[in-house]
This record gives sequence, C-alpha cells and structure tokens, in this order.
Amino acid sequence: MKPYDYLIVGSGLFGATFAHFAHKQGKRCLVIDKRQHLGGNVYCENIKGINVHKYGAHIFHTSNKKVWDFVNAIVPFNRYTNAPVANYKGKLYNLPFNMNTFYQMWGVTTPDEALAKLNEQKAEAMAKMKSEGTTEPRNLEEQAKVLIGNDIYEKLIKGYTEKQWGRKCAELPAFIIKRLPVRMVFDNNYFNDSYQGIPIGGYNKLIDALLQGVETKTDTDFFARERSYWATVADKIVYTGQLDEFFDFRFGRLDFRTVRFETEVKPTPNYQGNAVVNYTDAAVPYTRIIEHKHFELFGQAVYDNPHTVISREYSTEWEPGIEPYYPVNDNKNNALAERYRSLAEQEPNVIFGGRLAEYKYYDMAPVIEKVMNLFRY
Ligand code: FDA
Repeated sequence: MKPYDYLIVGSGLFGATFAHFAHKQGKRCLVIDKRQHLGGNVYCENIKGINVHKYGAHIFHTSNKKVWDFVNAIVPFNRYTNAPVANYKGKLYNLPFNMNTFYQMWGVTTPDEALAKLNEQKAEAMAKMKSEGTTEPRNLEEQAKVLIGNDIYEKLIKGYTEKQWGRKCAELPAFIIKRLPVRMVFDNNYFNDSYQGIPIGGYNKLIDALLQGVETKTDTDFFARERSYWATVADKIVYTGQLDEFFDFRFGRLDFRTVRFETEVKPTPNYQGNAVVNYTDAAVPYTRIIEHKHFELFGQAVYDNPHTVISREYSTEWEPGIEPYYPVNDNKNNALAERYRSLAEQEPNVIFGGRLAEYKYYDMAPVIEKVMNLFRY
C-alpha cells in the first residue's frame, strides 16, 4: 500500500480545501508546496503586526450561501466592504461609478441630473463616431466613450486601463469592455454579491484551519523529483501548479499577465484612509496603492498600531521566473490551453484544479465551490 491516498501539489485554496474534505473522509493526504509557506496566493506576511497580502489584495466575496457558511464555519469573516477610491491628478472619486462619482465629476445631485449628463456624453461619443462613418466602436476607447461618455473615460478609465494592459486604449480591442455598470444611487460597495469580508485574523488562519490534521511539506517542488518517485507516494495526484509545466511545456508556454508589488512600511497609523486607492492618471506609474491594515482594522484599532504597510502595484509583462497571475485569454493562449487540457484528460490518476492547472481566472469563492462540488458537499 502506498503511504498516501492523495499527493496534493500546491497549498493554495484549491489544494487546502481539497485536503480538508479528503481528510474528513479519512483519506491520507500529503500536501506539498514549492514555496516556503502554505496558502498559495492568499498567504499573508505579518509586517509590524499587520497582515500584508503578499501576492495581491484578496477580498472574499460571493452570493453562494453554502460557500459563505462553509468558510465562516472554518473561521469567522469580518465586515470589510470593498469601496475603492480613484485618485486622478489629486482629485478623489468614488468607485464603482455611482451617484457619489457623478456628484464629484459634475456636481449633479439627483439621479435625473446624472442620467441626463451621462446620456448627453454618450450621445456626443456616438455622434463623433458617426461623423467618422461608423456606428460600431472600433477599439476600447470608442467602446468606453459610447458606454459612459468622455469625462469618466478620460479621468477614471483611460490611464488605468493603459497601465494595466501596457497599450493605448485606442489600440486595444473593444470587446475587453462589454459593459460599464453605473449605479444611480449613493452606494460605494464595489461588489454586488450578498456576502463579502476577510477572515478574522487573516487568510493564514483559514488555510491553517483547512489543513488542520493534514501532513504538509513546504519548500518541496513537485518537479524536483521524478514522476516515478511520486507514483510510489500516493494513489492519486491533485495538481494545482502550472498546466503547461506538468507536460514539460511540450507545446510551448502559456502566457500570463502579472503585477509587481512595492511594499513599504510607513511611520503613520493611517496613510490613505482606505484599503484600495486606484491611480487613474497615466502619469503615475503604479495602478493602485493598497493599505493592508484597512482590510482588518476598523475605527480606533487603525490608530492603535502606529505603523501602516502599503503596496504600490505595477502591471508588468510576464516572463518565466516571475509569478504568473492572470491567464491571457487571447486566441493563441486559449488554443494552447485546450491542447494541454486534452493531455490532462488522458491522466486518469491526476486531478487538475485551480487557477494555474486549469489556466483560468478564478475568484476564491468559485475555487472553494468547485472543490465542494467534487466532494458533493
Ligand atoms: P494558488 O496560486 O493560490 O495556489 C497554487 C499553489 O501551488 C501555490 O502555493 C504554488 O506555490 C503551488 N505550486 C505551484 N507549482 C508547484 C510545484 N511544482 N510544486 C509544488 N507546489 C507548487 N480572488 C478573490 O476572490 N478576491 C480577490 O480580491 C482576489 N484578488 C486577487 C489578486 C491577484 C493579484 C490575483 C492573481 C488573484 C486574486 N484572486 C482574488 C484570485 C485568487 O488568488 C485565486 O482564486 C486563488 O489563489 C486560487 O487558488 P489556487 O489554489 O488555485 O492557486
């Protein structure tokens, strides 16, 4: 008999949730991770008593009550509500686009006034396109202007999007922006989901609780050993690493987009008064500043710690060796991923799951939901 039923490669939310359910069913699991710590991208590093989201800001949100009840039974979540603010040339605007934004942009105070202004701007954009002989937006810039008008596009969308993609909006395809939802109420809650929050005490508590009683090994790369070795260790492999790497990149590499973080301790208790501030002016090189303490500390607790930790986020081209963050959903990469997926289907003893192994952008809640479904929970 092999020592384990499951070798779980990767201790992110997919691997940790899988291990949790398998362990509860009495299966023997070994979780390995090539990093020095468990938790994958939700891992937090404690700096000056603050949980710093080392791999990017993570806000849990879902409308799935089963998922919400499940994670809250593991560790209770706080009342954090994501309400990002945009800074354009020193002036602040609330996001997502709502009555607060329209008031800040145009001084309008009623929904009727705001709608009239929006419609006027959208009509101007359409008229300009018609004068150039088209009614179909030819690029992202035209698409955004037709959907929301020039002012919001210029101040809140253009610079941010160009930094994110590293290309001019006029050179990006229109389909990237399908809808630009607006709220005709004073509501800065970014998500439309029924539930959102951060685990009380941070994400590491969630991961530790999921992995309670499960054997784990960090600093252990699956590819540092032969497949024949792992075959002696467990009956089945749950693989959450990169899909193309599992097959030795035989068809070529899948591309990613990535973000570089510059993290700094500031000798002040409250640097920007909000967890997320977007910088929408192209002249500012970073896209956002995250102030981590605001995810978990509220009211006086913000001031009880005299320090704060901020991270500036820079959208960066990905290359091998840099953390792969977002799959690139263009035709080339979609086709390549399909070829790898058909190889994956021919591996009866391997379960491919999570954002890297499925080459798919997943929020946290759908990752957990997927594992719950696997176990028919
Ligand atoms: P994850 O990447 O977490 O885990 C994979 C693990 O496998 C890693 O620990 C890695 O080290 C390990 N591994 C890989 N190869 C290995 C090998 N060869 N050997 C051993 N171990 C190996 N979602 C959300 O709901 N709200 C949010 O606010 C955000 N924010 C956000 C920001 C950024 C920048 C990104 C990139 C993503 C988000 N997400 C998010 C998505 C969230 O990060 C995602 O849903 C989970 O991380 C997915 O968990 P996985 O287990 O699939 O991957």
